[in-house]
Amino acid sequence: TKKAFIFDLDGVIVDTAKYHFLAWKKLANSIGVDFTHTQNEQLKGVSRVKSLEKILAWGDKSISDAEFTRLMALKNDDYLTYIDTMDVQEILPDVTKTLDFLSNAKQHIALGSASKNARMILEKVHILEKFHVIVDGNDVTKAKPDPEVFLIAAQQLHVAPKDCIVFEDAVAGIQAANAAGMTSIGIGDKNTLNEADFVFTDFTEISAEFLNGLINR
Ligand code: G6P
Ligand code: MG
Repeated sequence: TKKAFIFDLDGVIVDTAKYHFLAWKKLANSIGVDFTHTQNEQLKGVSRVKSLEKILAWGDKSISDAEFTRLMALKNDDYLTYIDTMDVQEILPDVTKTLDFLSNAKQHIALGSASKNARMILEKVHILEKFHVIVDGNDVTKAKPDPEVFLIAAQQLHVAPKDCIVFEDAVAGIQAANAAGMTSIGIGDKNTLNEADFVFTDFTEISAEFLNGLINR
């Protein structure tokens, strides 16, 4: 059977963490809260709302709902100024090669991202058309580690969860894939992503044999 390969976006296809860092740091500092790279790591895979909640908790701040909404918009406006400068060179190594390999092997290809900016980013780096299905932050009600985002992708492709393979860089994303009953592949650090079925530092480590093994399983 045809398998479905579901890709997370941020940290898997492109390294947007550096832009999230700049935008969250500016926002946090503007309300008198420190923001470090260590904290930024903890926001990987975490939705925009949850991210701001965490920052406020770290800074021991409480604000009104209206102010919360205003700060979220400020952060995203700033983030979008960085996204605007992105181009194909920002696609992480061998991601395009992997997408093309899977496409040539006639496999389903989907995006499963928490980001509400996912389509725009895929357009910016010119790979939007490589995805048969896109499920992003606009389509879900429950954030990773809830499996919703990946289950919607599987449903739209008419593929059973056990025939889906998820590429993820965040612990919450690996947990979401596992909870969905899918094969989870961590992209990043082996120790951090130890709940994944397989872990690779990046796509340059993933061979055609490995992908064929998944396809023919
Ligand atoms: C991804 C990123 C998170 C980000 C989230 C929402 O999961 O790893 O850092 O907060 O998407 O992204 P958005 O673009 O909608 O703010
Ligand atoms: Mg990610």
